[in-house]
Amino acid sequence: MSDLIEGYIGETVDRKKSRMPAKLDYIQSATGLILGLFMWGHMFFVSTILISKDFMYTITKFFEADFIFDGGEPLLVSGIAFIIFSIFIVHAAMGMRKLPANFKQYQVMKAHANHMDHEDTKLWFTQAFTGFSMFFLGSIHVFIIMTHADAIGPYASADRVWSEFMWPLYILLLLAVEFHGTIGLYRLCIKWGWFDGKDPQATRIKLKKIKKILTVFFLVLGFVTLAAYMKIGYEHAEEGKVGERYHPTAQVQELKINNGRVA
Ligand code: HEM
Repeated sequence: MSDLIEGYIGETVDRKKSRMPAKLDYIQSATGLILGLFMWGHMFFVSTILISKDFMYTITKFFEADFIFDGGEPLLVSGIAFIIFSIFIVHAAMGMRKLPANFKQYQVMKAHANHMDHEDTKLWFTQAFTGFSMFFLGSIHVFIIMTHADAIGPYASADRVWSEFMWPLYILLLLAVEFHGTIGLYRLCIKWGWFDGKDPQATRIKLKKIKKILTVFFLVLGFVTLAAYMKIGYEHAEEGKVGERYHPTAQVQELKINNGRVA
Protein backbone atom coordinates (compact mmCIF):
# COMPACT_ATOMS: atom_id res chain seq x y z
CA MET A 1 0.00 0.00 0.00
CA SER A 2 2.78 2.43 0.96
CA ASP A 3 4.42 1.69 -2.43
CA LEU A 4 1.18 2.70 -4.11
CA ILE A 5 0.92 5.97 -2.17
CA GLU A 6 4.58 6.79 -2.80
CA GLY A 7 4.00 6.01 -6.45
CA TYR A 8 1.36 8.74 -6.59
CA ILE A 9 2.68 11.47 -4.29
CA GLY A 10 6.45 10.75 -4.16
CA GLU A 11 6.57 9.90 -0.42
CA THR A 12 5.07 7.37 1.99
CA VAL A 13 2.34 8.11 4.56
CA ASP A 14 5.15 8.66 7.12
CA ARG A 15 6.57 11.30 4.73
CA LYS A 16 9.59 9.11 4.04
CA LYS A 17 11.15 8.40 0.67
CA SER A 18 12.08 4.94 -0.52
CA ARG A 19 15.62 3.78 0.08
CA MET A 20 15.45 1.84 -3.15
CA PRO A 21 17.41 4.41 -5.29
CA ALA A 22 20.29 4.29 -2.77
CA LYS A 23 20.23 0.48 -2.78
CA LEU A 24 20.24 0.39 -6.59
CA ASP A 25 23.18 2.84 -6.63
CA TYR A 26 25.02 0.52 -4.28
CA ILE A 27 24.34 -2.49 -6.55
CA GLN A 28 25.55 -0.47 -9.54
CA SER A 29 28.81 0.40 -7.75
CA ALA A 30 29.40 -3.15 -6.46
CA THR A 31 28.78 -4.82 -9.84
CA GLY A 32 30.91 -2.13 -11.56
CA LEU A 33 33.77 -2.77 -9.13
CA ILE A 34 33.63 -6.54 -9.75
CA LEU A 35 33.54 -6.05 -13.55
CA GLY A 36 36.31 -3.40 -13.52
CA LEU A 37 38.66 -5.60 -11.50
CA PHE A 38 37.69 -8.66 -13.56
CA MET A 39 38.62 -6.76 -16.75
CA TRP A 40 42.13 -6.02 -15.43
CA GLY A 41 42.63 -9.71 -14.68
CA HIS A 42 41.07 -10.62 -18.05
CA MET A 43 43.46 -8.32 -19.97
CA PHE A 44 46.47 -9.89 -18.26
CA PHE A 45 45.15 -13.38 -19.03
CA VAL A 46 44.48 -12.60 -22.70
CA SER A 47 47.87 -10.86 -23.10
CA THR A 48 49.81 -13.97 -21.99
CA ILE A 49 49.99 -14.67 -25.74
CA LEU A 50 52.64 -11.90 -25.87
CA ILE A 51 54.94 -14.04 -23.70
CA SER A 52 54.45 -17.27 -25.64
CA LYS A 53 51.81 -19.59 -27.07
CA ASP A 54 52.83 -22.21 -24.49
CA PHE A 55 52.22 -19.76 -21.65
CA MET A 56 48.77 -18.75 -22.95
CA TYR A 57 47.94 -22.47 -23.33
CA THR A 58 49.07 -23.23 -19.77
CA ILE A 59 46.99 -20.39 -18.28
CA THR A 60 43.92 -21.45 -20.32
CA LYS A 61 44.27 -25.01 -19.03
CA PHE A 62 44.73 -23.67 -15.50
CA PHE A 63 41.29 -21.97 -15.70
CA GLU A 64 39.91 -25.29 -16.93
CA ALA A 65 41.40 -26.78 -13.72
CA ASP A 66 43.57 -29.34 -15.53
CA PHE A 67 45.25 -29.96 -12.17
CA ILE A 68 41.97 -31.67 -11.15
CA PHE A 69 40.39 -32.81 -14.44
CA ASP A 70 42.62 -34.60 -16.93
CA GLY A 71 42.99 -32.35 -20.01
CA GLY A 72 40.89 -29.56 -18.40
CA GLU A 73 37.14 -28.94 -18.15
CA PRO A 74 35.93 -26.01 -20.37
CA LEU A 75 32.53 -26.11 -18.61
CA LEU A 76 34.22 -24.35 -15.68
CA VAL A 77 35.06 -21.42 -17.99
CA SER A 78 31.47 -21.44 -19.29
CA GLY A 79 30.36 -21.21 -15.65
CA ILE A 80 32.64 -18.21 -14.97
CA ALA A 81 31.44 -16.56 -18.19
CA PHE A 82 27.81 -17.15 -17.11
CA ILE A 83 28.44 -15.49 -13.73
CA ILE A 84 30.24 -12.54 -15.38
CA PHE A 85 27.44 -12.24 -17.95
CA SER A 86 24.82 -12.14 -15.16
CA ILE A 87 26.75 -9.42 -13.29
CA PHE A 88 27.18 -7.55 -16.59
CA ILE A 89 23.39 -7.62 -17.21
CA VAL A 90 22.58 -6.42 -13.66
CA HIS A 91 25.16 -3.62 -14.02
CA ALA A 92 23.71 -2.56 -17.40
CA ALA A 93 20.18 -2.57 -15.95
CA MET A 94 21.32 -0.32 -13.08
CA GLY A 95 23.16 1.95 -15.54
CA MET A 96 20.05 2.35 -17.69
CA ARG A 97 18.43 4.32 -14.86
CA LYS A 98 20.94 7.10 -15.46
CA LEU A 99 20.41 7.43 -19.21
CA PRO A 100 18.22 10.34 -20.42
CA ALA A 101 14.79 9.04 -21.44
CA ASN A 102 14.16 11.57 -24.22
CA PHE A 103 15.83 14.36 -26.18
CA LYS A 104 14.63 17.08 -23.78
CA GLN A 105 16.31 15.35 -20.83
CA TYR A 106 19.48 14.88 -22.89
CA GLN A 107 19.48 18.58 -23.81
CA VAL A 108 19.09 19.62 -20.15
CA MET A 109 22.03 17.39 -19.13
CA LYS A 110 24.20 18.62 -21.98
CA ALA A 111 23.49 22.28 -21.19
CA HIS A 112 24.17 21.63 -17.50
CA ALA A 113 27.53 19.92 -18.23
CA ASN A 114 28.62 22.62 -20.66
CA HIS A 115 27.61 25.41 -18.30
CA MET A 116 29.50 23.90 -15.36
CA ASP A 117 32.47 23.11 -17.63
CA HIS A 118 33.39 20.42 -15.11
CA GLU A 119 35.55 17.59 -16.47
CA ASP A 120 34.07 14.91 -14.18
CA THR A 121 30.52 15.83 -15.21
CA LYS A 122 31.52 15.54 -18.86
CA LEU A 123 32.94 12.07 -18.14
CA TRP A 124 29.34 10.99 -17.61
CA PHE A 125 28.72 11.34 -21.36
CA THR A 126 31.67 9.04 -22.14
CA GLN A 127 30.29 6.52 -19.63
CA ALA A 128 26.80 6.65 -21.15
CA PHE A 129 28.10 6.25 -24.72
CA THR A 130 30.63 3.47 -24.01
CA GLY A 131 28.19 1.71 -21.66
CA PHE A 132 25.45 1.74 -24.32
CA SER A 133 27.79 0.30 -26.98
CA MET A 134 28.89 -2.46 -24.61
CA PHE A 135 25.28 -3.65 -24.32
CA PHE A 136 25.78 -5.09 -27.81
CA LEU A 137 29.53 -5.58 -28.20
CA GLY A 138 30.07 -7.14 -24.74
CA SER A 139 27.02 -9.42 -25.01
CA ILE A 140 28.16 -10.87 -28.35
CA HIS A 141 31.67 -11.64 -27.03
CA VAL A 142 30.64 -13.09 -23.67
CA PHE A 143 27.88 -15.23 -25.22
CA ILE A 144 30.31 -16.70 -27.78
CA ILE A 145 32.91 -17.39 -25.08
CA MET A 146 30.26 -18.93 -22.79
CA THR A 147 28.99 -21.30 -25.48
CA HIS A 148 32.42 -22.07 -27.02
CA ALA A 149 34.60 -22.22 -23.94
CA ASP A 150 36.36 -25.29 -25.38
CA ALA A 151 37.66 -23.05 -28.21
CA ILE A 152 40.00 -20.87 -26.15
CA GLY A 153 43.72 -21.21 -26.79
CA PRO A 154 46.61 -19.82 -28.87
CA TYR A 155 45.24 -21.09 -32.20
CA ALA A 156 41.51 -21.37 -31.40
CA SER A 157 41.40 -17.76 -30.14
CA ALA A 158 43.56 -16.47 -33.01
CA ASP A 159 41.29 -18.24 -35.55
CA ARG A 160 38.24 -16.65 -33.96
CA VAL A 161 39.88 -13.21 -34.03
CA TRP A 162 41.07 -13.48 -37.65
CA SER A 163 39.16 -16.13 -39.59
CA GLU A 164 35.86 -15.68 -37.74
CA PHE A 165 36.12 -11.90 -38.11
CA MET A 166 35.98 -10.94 -34.46
CA TRP A 167 38.77 -8.35 -34.74
CA PRO A 168 36.54 -5.40 -35.83
CA LEU A 169 34.27 -6.10 -32.87
CA TYR A 170 37.27 -6.40 -30.50
CA ILE A 171 38.67 -3.03 -31.66
CA LEU A 172 35.42 -1.29 -30.70
CA LEU A 173 34.91 -3.35 -27.54
CA LEU A 174 38.48 -2.70 -26.40
CA LEU A 175 38.05 1.07 -26.77
CA ALA A 176 34.68 1.02 -24.98
CA VAL A 177 35.79 -1.27 -22.16
CA GLU A 178 39.06 0.50 -21.38
CA PHE A 179 37.53 3.99 -21.22
CA HIS A 180 34.42 2.79 -19.40
CA GLY A 181 36.35 0.62 -16.93
CA THR A 182 38.98 3.14 -15.80
CA ILE A 183 36.55 6.08 -15.71
CA GLY A 184 34.12 3.88 -13.76
CA LEU A 185 36.71 2.85 -11.17
CA TYR A 186 37.86 6.49 -10.85
CA ARG A 187 34.28 7.64 -10.28
CA LEU A 188 33.77 4.91 -7.66
CA CYS A 189 36.80 6.17 -5.71
CA ILE A 190 35.44 9.74 -5.81
CA LYS A 191 31.82 8.77 -5.07
CA TRP A 192 32.59 6.64 -2.00
CA GLY A 193 35.64 8.71 -0.95
CA TRP A 194 37.85 5.60 -0.71
CA PHE A 195 41.20 7.39 -0.84
CA ASP A 196 40.08 10.87 0.29
CA GLY A 197 42.62 11.16 3.14
CA LYS A 198 43.19 14.63 4.61
CA ASP A 199 43.00 16.48 1.32
CA PRO A 200 40.31 15.07 -0.99
CA GLN A 201 41.04 17.69 -3.65
CA ALA A 202 44.70 16.66 -3.90
CA THR A 203 43.59 13.00 -3.99
CA ARG A 204 41.24 13.74 -6.87
CA ILE A 205 44.09 15.24 -8.91
CA LYS A 206 46.27 12.17 -8.19
CA LEU A 207 43.45 9.76 -9.04
CA LYS A 208 42.85 11.57 -12.32
CA LYS A 209 46.51 11.09 -13.27
CA ILE A 210 46.38 7.38 -12.31
CA LYS A 211 43.20 7.02 -14.38
CA LYS A 212 44.92 8.44 -17.46
CA ILE A 213 48.02 6.25 -17.01
CA LEU A 214 45.86 3.11 -16.57
CA THR A 215 43.72 3.94 -19.62
CA VAL A 216 46.80 4.34 -21.82
CA PHE A 217 48.46 1.23 -20.31
CA PHE A 218 45.48 -1.07 -20.89
CA LEU A 219 44.75 0.36 -24.34
CA VAL A 220 48.34 -0.21 -25.48
CA LEU A 221 48.43 -3.70 -23.91
CA GLY A 222 45.04 -4.52 -25.47
CA PHE A 223 45.92 -3.40 -28.98
CA VAL A 224 49.36 -5.06 -28.98
CA THR A 225 47.63 -8.26 -27.78
CA LEU A 226 44.96 -8.00 -30.45
CA ALA A 227 47.64 -7.48 -33.11
CA ALA A 228 49.39 -10.65 -31.87
CA TYR A 229 46.18 -12.74 -32.19
CA MET A 230 45.52 -11.26 -35.64
CA LYS A 231 49.04 -12.14 -36.81
CA ILE A 232 48.84 -15.72 -35.48
CA GLY A 233 45.33 -16.12 -36.95
CA TYR A 234 46.46 -14.74 -40.33
CA GLU A 235 49.47 -17.08 -40.50
CA HIS A 236 47.33 -20.04 -39.43
CA ALA A 237 44.89 -19.27 -42.24
CA GLU A 238 47.73 -18.87 -44.79
CA GLU A 239 49.01 -22.33 -43.80
CA GLY A 240 45.49 -23.70 -44.35
CA LYS A 241 45.31 -24.86 -40.73
CA VAL A 242 42.23 -22.99 -39.47
CA GLY A 243 40.50 -25.08 -36.82
CA GLU A 244 43.64 -27.00 -35.81
CA ARG A 245 44.34 -26.77 -32.10
CA TYR A 246 47.63 -25.84 -30.44
CA HIS A 247 49.81 -28.57 -28.93
CA PRO A 248 52.29 -27.35 -26.30
CA THR A 249 55.97 -27.70 -27.19
CA ALA A 250 56.56 -30.39 -24.52
CA GLN A 251 53.82 -32.62 -26.04
CA VAL A 252 55.20 -32.17 -29.56
CA GLN A 253 58.71 -33.12 -28.37
CA GLU A 254 57.29 -36.19 -26.61
CA LEU A 255 55.57 -37.21 -29.87
CA LYS A 256 58.80 -36.76 -31.83
CA ILE A 257 60.77 -38.86 -29.35
CA ASN A 258 58.16 -41.61 -29.68
CA ASN A 259 58.10 -41.37 -33.49
CA GLY A 260 54.59 -39.88 -33.56
CA ARG A 261 53.15 -42.42 -31.12
CA VAL A 262 51.73 -41.16 -27.83
CA ALA A 263 53.53 -43.07 -25.06
C1 HEM B 1 34.44 -15.06 -18.18
C2 HEM B 1 34.25 -14.16 -19.14
C3 HEM B 1 35.24 -13.93 -20.26
C4 HEM B 1 36.16 -14.77 -20.82
C5 HEM B 1 36.46 -16.22 -20.43
C6 HEM B 1 36.83 -14.04 -21.87
C7 HEM B 1 37.84 -14.56 -22.68
C8 HEM B 1 38.46 -13.90 -23.72
C9 HEM B 1 39.43 -14.48 -24.61
C10 HEM B 1 39.92 -15.91 -24.55
C11 HEM B 1 39.82 -13.51 -25.48
C12 HEM B 1 40.86 -13.67 -26.62
C13 HEM B 1 40.18 -13.65 -27.97
C14 HEM B 1 39.20 -14.80 -28.16
O1 HEM B 1 39.46 -15.95 -27.73
O2 HEM B 1 38.16 -14.57 -28.79
C15 HEM B 1 39.10 -12.30 -25.12
C16 HEM B 1 39.26 -11.08 -25.72
C17 HEM B 1 38.62 -9.94 -25.35
N1 HEM B 1 37.63 -9.81 -24.39
FE1 HEM B 1 36.97 -11.27 -23.19
N2 HEM B 1 36.31 -12.77 -21.93
C18 HEM B 1 35.35 -12.66 -20.95
C19 HEM B 1 34.60 -11.54 -20.66
C20 HEM B 1 34.76 -10.31 -21.25
C21 HEM B 1 34.00 -9.14 -20.93
C22 HEM B 1 32.89 -9.07 -19.86
C23 HEM B 1 34.47 -8.14 -21.74
C24 HEM B 1 34.00 -6.72 -21.81
C25 HEM B 1 32.74 -6.38 -21.80
C26 HEM B 1 35.53 -8.68 -22.56
C27 HEM B 1 36.25 -7.97 -23.49
C28 HEM B 1 37.23 -8.50 -24.33
C29 HEM B 1 38.01 -7.73 -25.29
C30 HEM B 1 37.90 -6.22 -25.51
C31 HEM B 1 38.88 -8.63 -25.92
C32 HEM B 1 39.93 -8.30 -26.98
C33 HEM B 1 41.18 -8.00 -26.19
C34 HEM B 1 42.44 -7.95 -26.99
O3 HEM B 1 42.59 -8.68 -27.96
O4 HEM B 1 43.32 -7.20 -26.58
N3 HEM B 1 35.68 -10.00 -22.24
N4 HEM B 1 38.27 -12.57 -24.06
